[in-house]
Amino acid sequence: MNKVTHLECSLCGKRLEAGKAANLCECGGPLLVRYDIETLRHRWPRRDVSRGPSTMWRYAPILPPSNEFIVSLGEGWTPLVHTRRLGARIGADNLFVKDEGLNPTASFKARGLSCAISMCVELGIRKVAIPSAGNAASALAAYAAAAGLEAYIFMPRDVPQANYLECKAYGACVTLVDGLISDCGRMVAERGPVEGWFDVSTLKEPYRIEGKKTMGYEVAEQMGWELPEAIFYPTGGGVGLIGMWKAFEEMDRLGWIGSRRPKMIAVQAEGCQPVVRAFQEGEARSRFYEHAQTVAAGLRVPKPLGDFLVLQGVRASGGTAIAVSDEEMLDAGVQLASLEGIYAAPEGAACVAAAQKLLASGFLKATDRMVLYNTGSGLKYPEAYSTRFPR
Ligand SMILES: Cc1ncc(COP(=O)(O)O)c(C=O)c1O
Ligand SMILES: [Zn+2]
Repeated sequence: MNKVTHLECSLCGKRLEAGKAANLCECGGPLLVRYDIETLRHRWPRRDVSRGPSTMWRYAPILPPSNEFIVSLGEGWTPLVHTRRLGARIGADNLFVKDEGLNPTASFKARGLSCAISMCVELGIRKVAIPSAGNAASALAAYAAAAGLEAYIFMPRDVPQANYLECKAYGACVTLVDGLISDCGRMVAERGPVEGWFDVSTLKEPYRIEGKKTMGYEVAEQMGWELPEAIFYPTGGGVGLIGMWKAFEEMDRLGWIGSRRPKMIAVQAEGCQPVVRAFQEGEARSRFYEHAQTVAAGLRVPKPLGDFLVLQGVRASGGTAIAVSDEEMLDAGVQLASLEGIYAAPEGAACVAAAQKLLASGFLKATDRMVLYNTGSGLKYPEAYSTRFPR
């Protein structure tokens, strides 16, 4: 059942042939993978999904690589935990946490990079490069190691120590950069063509988002094919949110869900909130956020490439964009850990703080079903949490 028909530019709509190495469209727009959903609709009923593996590859018919090229470390099919004690504390009767910290390399980035590296193997690419805030680098390094590819990584010098150590242990070639992820991205773009590296920057190649979209398939399946009223997503590049929005549209066309969608809530850090600012100003795109600073390393993205897609999804869903402070994130992280036994990355904890705010403002009701994405494990952030618990 293969299934990919073409790549489509998200900005100008141009169609490109699938099955070739591809980065951005010539207009600068990110490319999205399109499938023969009409055929899939008849051959792949949703009742068949549960026969697949307990990983994100249970959705392989709507993922790009052919089965023989899949590079998997067991990513996806993470638990959806009904967090009753936290819910009672914040006044939400139906509060769930999707715990992505349980993925290989302890973050949701494993999904995107499992998919992207599988496609590199299928397309014969041997050298890959990435600019990263930390967790994507760890995931790339792990999957490149598993596939026997060379990985070149560019991260801010103040990246969490765990990410640095992991990348080195996985055998990647690591460059620490005095700057932000945007500076790292520029270095990969400059050196990549000279060195023969394939650029796997988020949204600059079409396959990472396909892995991330499985977060949307899973939440539907785990909730009995009924989407919740609200989804909270910690938004750096925002690719998880864009991917889930794409997944909902695909599932609708597959006949698996109806047309109702959750309110998509983009959560950012007060110290780096380009999407929140654009949302409030009614703009279609964000502006570069100067002096970006937050303990949530994954949210320190001053100008997301896919900002317009995030904003489209948030607006079309009747959702919103909201920022929380680093203090609020760490407090919420400790609250989630102590009430539920889930030790979240500050990025994931930000969703807890955001939910509290939107319940207090009346934007959401106590009876709404809410899913918060904890995108990574708190174990990767000793620097951030040790400010709470000095020894
Ligand atoms: C733990 C964590 N959460 C969220 C994000 C943001 O991801 P996205 O690009 O999908 O917005 C990152 C990105 O580095 C991350 O590491
Ligand atoms: Zn284009």
